[in-house]
Amino acid sequence: MFDINKKIQIGNLKLDFPFFLAPMAGVTDYAFRVIAKEFGAGVVYSEFVSAHGIIRKNEKTLNMIKFSEFERPIGIQIFGDTPEVMENAAKLVYEKFKPDLIDINYGCPVPKVTKKGAGSAALKDLCLMEDITEAVVKAVDKIPVTVKMRAGWNSENIVSTQAGINLEKVGVKAITLHPRTTVQMYKGNANWDLIKELKENVSIPVIGNGDVKNIDDINEMFSHTNCDGIMIGRAALGNPWFFAEVRKYMLNEDFEDISIEERLEICKKHLELLVQIHGEIVGANNMKKHFAWYFKGFKGASSFRKKFVLAKNYSEMKDILSNIRH
Ligand SMILES: Cc1cc2nc3c(=O)[nH]c(=O)nc-3n(C[C@H](O)[C@H](O)[C@H](O)COP(=O)(O)O)c2cc1C
Repeated sequence: MFDINKKIQIGNLKLDFPFFLAPMAGVTDYAFRVIAKEFGAGVVYSEFVSAHGIIRKNEKTLNMIKFSEFERPIGIQIFGDTPEVMENAAKLVYEKFKPDLIDINYGCPVPKVTKKGAGSAALKDLCLMEDITEAVVKAVDKIPVTVKMRAGWNSENIVSTQAGINLEKVGVKAITLHPRTTVQMYKGNANWDLIKELKENVSIPVIGNGDVKNIDDINEMFSHTNCDGIMIGRAALGNPWFFAEVRKYMLNEDFEDISIEERLEICKKHLELLVQIHGEIVGANNMKKHFAWYFKGFKGASSFRKKFVLAKNYSEMKDILSNIRH
């Protein structure tokens, strides 16, 4: 069983609750991160941010990096294809935003990203991966650099353990492993044996990721892999209080399920935060997918969902949230 009193150290960063909110493009913006943090997420991450966009000082890209003090410790995740671009982007992120860590994305399987040699394409060229990582580590020597990677490009080329050994040598301070291959995308299962193998072969913290859906999976992930922390992605969608549930469980306390009233309050807050950062139109649009996640998997959920699907704009969403009867 995992010992909640065991602190994990990522470079100069000491963490007392090693449960990480996974970076998720289109999801883990300021609004979602603040809510996850309120429920006790140990570390939150930005969505992955393009290094090319950063060095071009693209306004939309830089806006994705903005965060509040409340969100600390926070990691900014960057992706890119060359050591130079990644080095310059990391430097700029550090100087302008001062996050607590910079994470390199070696996991994105989306062709738009991998075709250019970024994301999980690095798993096909461990030398380039090492060069990129070393350049980033040298560029930001005041905060830890971590990486998040997949297991390999395909099942014939599983490289996570070798990559981990190389990355530790060039100064990476922690590794998150989502042990699926690029080709696998999200199909099949994450192969937790590879997390265990990585943990046995490096001395830096290993954060296990992939398919943790509930408290039983948390236990199973720790006991199967001996990992130092766990990163939670899809299980937090429409369920950011999962972090509170995990904390209670770790402290041997009961977790009382969130009531419908609380769920509606959380949605209201989420919507307000989205509108605050994106404006009414984009904010309300973004909220639609969250409504679908918040109102899923419990008795009566579909009748709520139907109401939100019909909401055309921010004001209609607010009305529904305030007047809904159940
Ligand atoms: C909608 C969505 C967006 C994602 N975006 C990113 C991303 O920007 N960077 C990244 O490293 N991984 C990204 N991922 C992968 C997750 O961080 C995580 O590795 C994966 O979902 C497996 O963990 P889970 O089973 O806990 O969801 C994304 C996943 C989802 C579902």
